[in-house]
Amino acid sequence: MAFVVKKNINGKDYFYLNENKRVDGKVKTKTIAYLGKIKKDAEKKAKEIIEKMEKEKTEIKEIEKKERTETKISIEEMAVFCKRKGFVYSSGEIYGGLAGFWDYGNLGVELANNLKREWWQFHVYQRNDVVGIDGSIITNPKVWEASGHVSSFVDIAVVCKKCGNKTKIDKYEVGKAKCEKCRGEFENKGEFNPMFTTSVGPVKEDSLKAYLRPETAQLIFANFKFVQENARMKLPFGIAQIGKSFRNEIAPRDFLFRAREFEQMEIEYFTKPNEKCPYELGNTEILIYSEEMQKNKQEAKKMSFKEAWKKGIIKTDWHAYWLEQELFWFIGLGANSSKFRVRQHVSDEKSHYALDTWDLEYNFPFGWKELEGVANRTDFDLKQHEKFSGKDLKIFDEETKEKFLPHVVCEPSLGVGRAFLVFMFDAYTFDEKRQNIVLRLHPKLSPIKAAIFPIIKKDEYENLSKEILNELKKEWNVLYDISGSIGRRYARNDEIGTPFCITIDEDSLKNKDVTIRIRDTTEQIRVKIENLQEVLRKGIHGENILKYGKKIETRKKISGEE
Ligand code: GAP
Repeated sequence: MAFVVKKNINGKDYFYLNENKRVDGKVKTKTIAYLGKIKKDAEKKAKEIIEKMEKEKTEIKEIEKKERTETKISIEEMAVFCKRKGFVYSSGEIYGGLAGFWDYGNLGVELANNLKREWWQFHVYQRNDVVGIDGSIITNPKVWEASGHVSSFVDIAVVCKKCGNKTKIDKYEVGKAKCEKCRGEFENKGEFNPMFTTSVGPVKEDSLKAYLRPETAQLIFANFKFVQENARMKLPFGIAQIGKSFRNEIAPRDFLFRAREFEQMEIEYFTKPNEKCPYELGNTEILIYSEEMQKNKQEAKKMSFKEAWKKGIIKTDWHAYWLEQELFWFIGLGANSSKFRVRQHVSDEKSHYALDTWDLEYNFPFGWKELEGVANRTDFDLKQHEKFSGKDLKIFDEETKEKFLPHVVCEPSLGVGRAFLVFMFDAYTFDEKRQNIVLRLHPKLSPIKAAIFPIIKKDEYENLSKEILNELKKEWNVLYDISGSIGRRYARNDEIGTPFCITIDEDSLKNKDVTIRIRDTTEQIRVKIENLQEVLRKGIHGENILKYGKKIETRKKISGEE
């Protein structure tokens, strides 16, 4: 809520409108406007500004409400859409593809890159306590012996006796699990390790058996001491990494959801043992589904992370904090918060390294599924690497003058492909009025930020359009489209999520201004070319740009236009 404050500077009173905002869990005061020196005028001005702000908030809520009208489609339909529009293809499709391997097309690579950049921005650049690395896909195989992946990263392959469905189950599910397709009995095909193997070195006898990494995390642990010293990090701190991982899944399925080659975005967050979390928790509510609720066959309960932690449902403040951060990241990029919940792993479901794990789950068209794992790995990994490498990985504590191994209180670990699906499902809408698909991606994620349309094929229109295109291309991925009617061009861009379409018409030549059409509302504004970049920048950051131009009704057609 905004409020008026008086500041006395050199004996004179000045009035300002301030607002408290929560940033990174802390309340920060921001000055919104200078209100002048006279109290009465300042109060009047403040009232006007507050009213305007409230109106804008209501408008944004209205837009958000409209955005929430996403159309429900199945995962198979999403795969077809992604192929048709150039987001994702089955890898090696011209040879029949290969199960569990996917290629990102011209739009898919942009969306994936944008979401990875946004993840890095939020988790690394916007914090002072996280730095990044980029580890190798193949490393010394001892890393995987130490981590326990060679001995404990084991699944049981099973085939349904009734319908032939091939899948994997955890060891604890042997004899208990039934086929999820037909409820038939499983035939146990034995243990298998999903790590892909390869040999390093050209001469067979001298070559070394190595693994394609099944998680990026181990490269963080193996480099932990170097990074901590080089980056001069003090606990608590995190190391982030984005990169490919490989798992020879027995049953890759549900498009990008379960692939054999996929990308992970992971953080190992290190603290002193039992260190308190200094960040404040917010009040955002979410469905919480603890181990106890699952065992007692109860429903998930809606509450804030703060409440779940205070009630001891989520055991540590750090776990509650990181789960909340992960949810914030998705919501900040326009994901639908009502489709998320957090679920605790039941004891026999946990990975060999985890003390406690909570998954951020999303309600996919094929049910509630793990989107992101958030595990407490304790000092398990550093201890193992000390043991296997013989190297000292401890940190010296200046206060206690003792050396100790830091604990990973939380490991947020998210697959790029799964995040990609969440944003696509939440964005996909069939607009009845327009009779075309509108992909309502957050502009930050949109593969193409703006499309430039000269209204007719004439040199003067095309030259000005290309001038604008070249200027905008210095900053963003922008598209030039001259074919078909303006309506067709809008529809094509709606389908691929382009948030802004810019039309150059006869008035543009005279007045040096253009029309920006906003994807989500189809509203149009007229903006001077000199201000275009600034207005787009605001729009791409998620601001409603309606106020930055003169609102216009649909343009009348001119001669030569289709
Ligand atoms: N370092 C911890 C780790 O790898 P995980 O729960 O096995 O934990 C973390 O994986 C995340 O990686 C998952 O929540 C999911 O988003 C993604 N992921 C795992 N296996 C995947 C697969 N076969 N295909 C696509 N994404 C996968």
